[in-house]
Amino acid sequence: MDKPELTPILEARNLKKSYGKGENAVAALKDVSFSIQPGEFVAILGPSGSGKSTLLNMLGLMDRPDAGDVFIGGKKALSLSEEARSLLRNEKLGFIFQFDALLSDFTILENILFPALISSRPRKESYLEVQKRALSLLEHLKLPQIAERYPSQVSGGERQRAALCRALINNPEILLADEPTGNLDKVNGEMVFKDLEGLAREKNAAVILVTHNEEAAARAARVFHMQDGTLIEAAGVSSFRLAGRGAMS
Ligand SMILES: Nc1ncnc2c1ncn2[C@@H]1O[C@H](COP(=O)(O)OP(=O)(O)OP(=O)(O)O)[C@@H](O)[C@H]1O
Ligand SMILES: [Mg+2]
Repeated sequence: MDKPELTPILEARNLKKSYGKGENAVAALKDVSFSIQPGEFVAILGPSGSGKSTLLNMLGLMDRPDAGDVFIGGKKALSLSEEARSLLRNEKLGFIFQFDALLSDFTILENILFPALISSRPRKESYLEVQKRALSLLEHLKLPQIAERYPSQVSGGERQRAALCRALINNPEILLADEPTGNLDKVNGEMVFKDLEGLAREKNAAVILVTHNEEAAARAARVFHMQDGTLIEAAGVSSFRLAGRGAMS
């Protein structure tokens, strides 16, 4: 008898994306297929310009591919209306952008609260409850003192960790992290990395981490290499790999 198929929480099929036209066209994604199960932690390594951020933008429904499909929890995401896609993005996905996208006119706390406040669904929690959760995330990252400051008044590393809190505020099922430890020293980088790992384990969230840190990547369940717009899963299995889960499609 066939084994029951697990539905990936996120799947990309045959994604293609080019920028520019004619002679100047850059094929940023050539034909990328990828899937991840709930609770899996995967890392993507690859040289600058190889297409890593482009892939995360497609997976996170921030941008549309030229061809291919993205499925979230088995639901074909790209054929949904813009509104339905925003809702899906807001409810299921957390992002940490490569260049932190905190809004400069708002305090760190307000930035963290945004994803929880903008959902068009009726809120299950009161504003005070959400605020309490945001503060406890900041506390967890040992940053309660920056809550009322503006992004320009904190360090690059602190902004990066604030961006992690913002990505976690809606308890995402999928977390897309584009070099979240790039601006951090070893100790803080390790803290953020452990948090991502913990999130995958405790909340069964799927984490996709883009990093240049091979040591960090080696601790992920699966490691992928991006090269010239092509994604290849690295051979070898780490101790965190979940048995029988998530072969690349
Ligand atoms: N908006 C854009 N317009 C034109 N070209 C782009 C655009 N965004 C990305 N590219 C090009 O697409 C390719 C892939 O870029 P991408 O940002 O995905 O790389 P990356 O792997 O994330 O690199 P890095 O490690 O430097 O962040 C690069 O050649 C880049 O110059
Ligand atoms: Mg990038």
